[in-house]
Order: sequence, then structure tokens, then C-alpha cells
Amino acid sequence: MKLFVDSANLDEIAALTPLGIVDGVTTNPSLLAKVGNDPRAVLKRICDLVQGPVSAEVVATDCEGMVSEGRELAAIDPHIVVKVPFGKAGVQACHVLAAEGIRVNVTLIFSATQALLAAKVGATFVSPFIGRLDDIGTTGMDLVRQCVEIFENFQFPTEVLVASVRGPMHVIESARLGADICTCPPKAIDALFNHPLTDIGLAKFLADWAKAQQPEG
Ligand code: G3P
Repeated sequence: MKLFVDSANLDEIAALTPLGIVDGVTTNPSLLAKVGNDPRAVLKRICDLVQGPVSAEVVATDCEGMVSEGRELAAIDPHIVVKVPFGKAGVQACHVLAAEGIRVNVTLIFSATQALLAAKVGATFVSPFIGRLDDIGTTGMDLVRQCVEIFENFQFPTEVLVASVRGPMHVIESARLGADICTCPPKAIDALFNHPLTDIGLAKFLADWAKAQQPEG
């Protein structure tokens, strides 16, 4: 399963890329607004850092606006994937952009029917928002299971990009269900590394080693 960073913060991304675990990045208007600066310049620098798919979201709400903004975003760097929000305008914009060879991530997916429609119009990625479904008392992972099953049934090349990830259990479940990608905020990626028994085990190895170096008697 591929791992993307869900952030527009260059320092956070730069701290993770040398580890060799980052396959791409997802941004959205909220994340880009948080870092300030010129969003296009930030997106270009993220592409240079990651050398993998970098989702950049349109803010237009009509199809024509989404398509023209999508073309502009795609021109920033070959790694840019244009993110469009699900809806009739987003589906139509995805249909147009995909036909031009521009990769599209259809975001704000909350049902399997939405994912199916996005896949039909050639989305490269669909982004089911798992944490936000959990937040309203449903089981977000059920949607991931349905998307994976439907795409397999019809051999859609569209990849399931699990978004709105809150912690390690979302990542484990995504991997078990065969999701293609999990995009995680840096804090959630840090949590994937941690286990208290690893820390305890290492402390003991080092203590035993240090003890063995002391002269006997
Ligand atoms: O890419 C955006 C998505 O992951 C949203 O996450 O935490 O705002 O629900 P969140």
C-alpha cells in the first residue's frame, strides 16, 4: 500500500521524505491556507521534494471553472494530480480533464455510488473520507471495503486513496482491505512508528551492552 502525506507544510514533508516511505502528497485548500505563501509555489516545491503524485485542489464550483483551474494546476508540474470535489460539476470536470490526460483525484467521497461515478469518468484516484464518517457515528472502513470490491469487480484502474485518516487503525484496516493508498497527516505517520516495547527493548539492549563493556571485578 502506498503512503501519502496529507499536508502542505514543506518542513513536515521534508522531514518525512528521506525515510523512503512517502509515495505522494495530498493537499487541499484548508491545508494550503494554513501554510500561507503563494499556493502554486508551495505546490511546485512539494513536487520537487516528493517526485510522486501531489494532489492540488480546485476552488471553482462550476465545471468550466474547475476545468480551467485544473489545467492551470496541472501545468505547475507533471506530478500534479488535480483534485475536484465530488458532485455533478466535479464528475463532468473529471470526465473532461481525464480525456485530456490530466490525472484527477475526486475528493469528498462519502458513498460507494459516488466512488463508482468517479471511476466511470476516469478518475485516477477517489478519496473516501473515513475519519469524517466515523465522526458521525458510521463505520468509514465499510466504504473502503465497498470501493475496493466494486473497482475489482469491474477492473477499474481507479485507485482507492483513503483520506481523513486519524490514526494507525485506519492505516492497518486500509492495508488489510487492499486499499491502494492511505494519505495521513504527519502526526498519524509518526504514530505508525511507535511501540513502547520497541523503546523498552532498545533500552535493554543498550544497557546490557554498556554493562558488558565495564571491566570485571
Ligand atoms: O485531504 C483531506 C482529508 O484527508 C481531510 O481530513 O482530518 O480534515 O477530515 P480531515
